[in-house]
Amino acid sequence: METHPETPLSLAVRAGQPDFLDLPWRHPLEEWQHRCSRLEELPRGLSRHPVVFLNYDGMLYALKELPADLAEKEYDLLLKMEELKLPAVKAAGHARTSPGQGELSVLITRYLDNSLPYSSLFTQPNLARYREHLLDALAGLLVQLHLSGVYWGDCSLYNTLFRRDAGALQAYLVDAETAEIHPGLSSTLRAHDLEIMEENVVGGLSDLVAAAILNEDYPVEDTGSSIHDRYWRLWDEITREAYIHPQERYRIRERINALNALGFSVAEIELNATEKGDLLRLNVVVTDRNFHRHQLHNLTGVYAEEMQARQMVNEIKELKATLSTARKSSVPLSVAAYHWQNHYYLPIIEKLVPLLKNSASETELYCQFLEHKWFLSERAQRDVGREIALKDFLSNPPA
Ligand SMILES: Nc1ncnc2c1ncn2[C@@H]1O[C@H](COP(=O)(O)OP(=O)(O)O)[C@@H](O)[C@H]1O
Ligand SMILES: [Mg+2]
Repeated sequence: METHPETPLSLAVRAGQPDFLDLPWRHPLEEWQHRCSRLEELPRGLSRHPVVFLNYDGMLYALKELPADLAEKEYDLLLKMEELKLPAVKAAGHARTSPGQGELSVLITRYLDNSLPYSSLFTQPNLARYREHLLDALAGLLVQLHLSGVYWGDCSLYNTLFRRDAGALQAYLVDAETAEIHPGLSSTLRAHDLEIMEENVVGGLSDLVAAAILNEDYPVEDTGSSIHDRYWRLWDEITREAYIHPQERYRIRERINALNALGFSVAEIELNATEKGDLLRLNVVVTDRNFHRHQLHNLTGVYAEEMQARQMVNEIKELKATLSTARKSSVPLSVAAYHWQNHYYLPIIEKLVPLLKNSASETELYCQFLEHKWFLSERAQRDVGREIALKDFLSNPPA
């Protein structure tokens, strides 16, 4: 198929991306089917606007056609969310086009690799075990956005993508069209966002019932309110104030550790005097939910989802302890990380390559392997070792 390069009215592209100048810009996206050889069919959610996926040498992009000026607005919002280290699709560029009468705009985002639209979790039987995690993932995403001052305005199952994360899920925002970023978010706006979420989730699940993908007795309403409850539990855990005595300083460390375990990075702690004698009020300021991701990346350069990274950092810490015992001296974490990467992680990944298909990333496969090893070891009541675990894993690969 031949492509017909046509220029848009204007095009802004972030550094490191293709120039997108070979696309049939004079035509609306709906007419690109036979005009562009880069088009890819991929699973996607329902949308108001035309969306196409393009393949540039294996790198995938999503293009969405919007009324004039809206693409630039959404592009700016996505850039701000990236600065805030929030889980959202990454903006790649935007264009002004004039494919017919009047002007339109096109938003270009990097396709979120290894992601699943929510409907796959219901239509693919091997993914059914993730449904419960979907609720926590959506609640967790809203909490992260709200902590950073982002009002979404259109939280729904359709506007979220899910990535497997060490047996659970991480939710990503995909549609930022209605989002607003505030210095801080009022409880009214948060409540409003939750209301919209509940209504949309019930709508999204009802669609699946109507399509006979879910049984008629599926607890559609309860699912919406269950996400609501999970949101509040997490929000309260993160924002609650604690009161401590000056001689209970260890409780500050405890609080930080508890938040880190949930993946939240702590930027600041505030201690304020109270009227209650010498009791101090402890407030903790969290920045993002990438605590272990940052740690793993700093130690090894490996990018992973938060829960995956937590498992891998734990494995590195165990290795540090084992190496320290063997060498009879304290081995620094960075040394253990180097050893882990070269003698544990990379050799296993090399063997797992044949399983790299579907929606599981390298890091997810590695975590599935670790889980498999624990499972076998627990059954055998002893550490079965990596060789045996790997052999067994390769002969019974996960669905
Ligand atoms: N960057 C992306 N990566 C993966 N899927 C995407 C991406 N952008 C859009 N999609 C898919 O396209 C669908 C529609 O995109 P969305 O931004 O929600 O459009 P609309 O504003 O019309 O609702 C999403 O539900 C998602 O499945
Ligand atoms: Mg949408």
